[in-house]
Amino acid sequence: SLLLFSVVFLVIADYVKNRRPNSFPPGPWALPFVGNIFSVDFSKTHESLTKFAETYGDVYSLRMGQTWMVVLNGFNTLKEALLTQGHCVADRPILPLQDDVAPNQGIITTNGHMWKHQRRFALFTLKYFGVGKKSLESAIVDESMHFCKEIADLKGKEPFNPHIITNNAVANIICTLVFGHRFEYGDEKFMKLMVLLTVFLTAQLYNSFPVLMRRVPGPHHTIRKIYSDFMDLIKVDISKHKEDWDPSEPRDYIDCYLIESCNLITLNGDAFAEATFYEDNLIICALELFVAGSETTSTTLRWAFLYMAKYPEIQEKVQAEIDRVIGQSRQPSMMDRANLPYTDAVIHEILRMGNIVPLSLPHSTNNEMQLGNYTIPKGVVIIPNLTSVLFDKKEWETPYTFNPGHFLNEEGKFVKRAAFIPFSAGKRVCLGENLARMELFLFFTSFMQRFTFSMPSGVKPVLDYRFGVTLAPIQYKICAKLRQVSSSQ
Ligand code: HEM
Repeated sequence: SLLLFSVVFLVIADYVKNRRPNSFPPGPWALPFVGNIFSVDFSKTHESLTKFAETYGDVYSLRMGQTWMVVLNGFNTLKEALLTQGHCVADRPILPLQDDVAPNQGIITTNGHMWKHQRRFALFTLKYFGVGKKSLESAIVDESMHFCKEIADLKGKEPFNPHIITNNAVANIICTLVFGHRFEYGDEKFMKLMVLLTVFLTAQLYNSFPVLMRRVPGPHHTIRKIYSDFMDLIKVDISKHKEDWDPSEPRDYIDCYLIESCNLITLNGDAFAEATFYEDNLIICALELFVAGSETTSTTLRWAFLYMAKYPEIQEKVQAEIDRVIGQSRQPSMMDRANLPYTDAVIHEILRMGNIVPLSLPHSTNNEMQLGNYTIPKGVVIIPNLTSVLFDKKEWETPYTFNPGHFLNEEGKFVKRAAFIPFSAGKRVCLGENLARMELFLFFTSFMQRFTFSMPSGVKPVLDYRFGVTLAPIQYKICAKLRQVSSSQ
């Protein structure tokens, strides 16, 4: 009877602790202690979360263990929350993985002054090295040539899995930004970096189930080791930078950071800013740029190959437009984008259908917030369901069909769509959005200029996904045939 009493007592305590005001968004009935954990299919979380909206409306709540979340659905709700009331949801919840190892450092998981200064600084650096000669633009064009050469060299060994080579190409762009140079794909240090990143990404699972994962053996327990290995790797570079840097001519993110930490350029001019720029934080920020900027763009390109193999008639139209506007004798540049509306529309549609960050990253309320008839208290986790916007029936003519026409008007000109938010929106909008768009445009047009992608004979393209850090296509092999284009084109 003591046991029964204890159980009843704990259930009542859990109920009292988790009671919400009447104006809190509704949601499915939550079990004591575990909440709604068993109501969600974690192999396709975004689909489960989109389905709940049919029953509970565009603003509903879920309880994961002892954590309350409010899930936001549909274009109008996300616009109201992220843009109109963006100041209320600019914070991130504390993630256990980060908090265990590097509390309040970096950009992605920090709040307040730390986040503001590091974000502003990273945006400044990305703009500084953005477009032009000796810039990230030319680094991407250069990298796409290395990629194409590598694929052309595979001649006879087709089909191939594009995963690793695409990861390498994309990671090299962040290497150029952070270290000031690219690596050969076989370089020992580069390969070590790529392994560290892969293990780091696997370890992110720990953030979803911290209580469980702390007890279960697995690669996430190596997270401290990854941080320290990454630190060793990058510290060597920082020392080298210190030896031969010229503050009047920064070469990369590390140089800019060193300048900022010496306060030679004053972007912000206040004491808080200075206090956030120190070497350990530089290392965490660099790691985050790699983590956020590699897998995302690489996954989108892997969707691109697959969609082109699935829709050969769309691939042909893209190639015809590129042949007409750029031809075969020169590399694409960002100046070409305005003249390639069909290609641009196809890239947008790949990003929409690929839906690679389907639930954005979690936010949290830093103030009480009124959303429609609901009141959301301070400190509640907010999940912006991007899937519900990218496939919103009210916004897209054929939401579940690959249709570049979503981004074209009747004359075939490119049109922007407000509901196109794969990079999210508002104060936390992806800070690499411009870089990612530049990479996708330049890589994709270079690949389409040189190759035709198709599935190996007898194999049908599978557009199914694996739900992980990003929504990625299931591993596949593909053929890339070198194009024979007549010189008259
Ligand atoms: C955040 C998408 C590429 C750096 C995000 C978020 C999304 C996203 C949905 C969460 C925004 C939010 O919390 O509401 C993407 C997609 C990409 C991409 C779809 C490529 C196709 C990149 C690249 C970089 C980058 C290339 C690095 C240069 C970041 C950072 C954040 C972020 C640092 C955190 C921003 C903050 O907390 O203030 N991204 N991203 N991303 N992304 Fe990206």
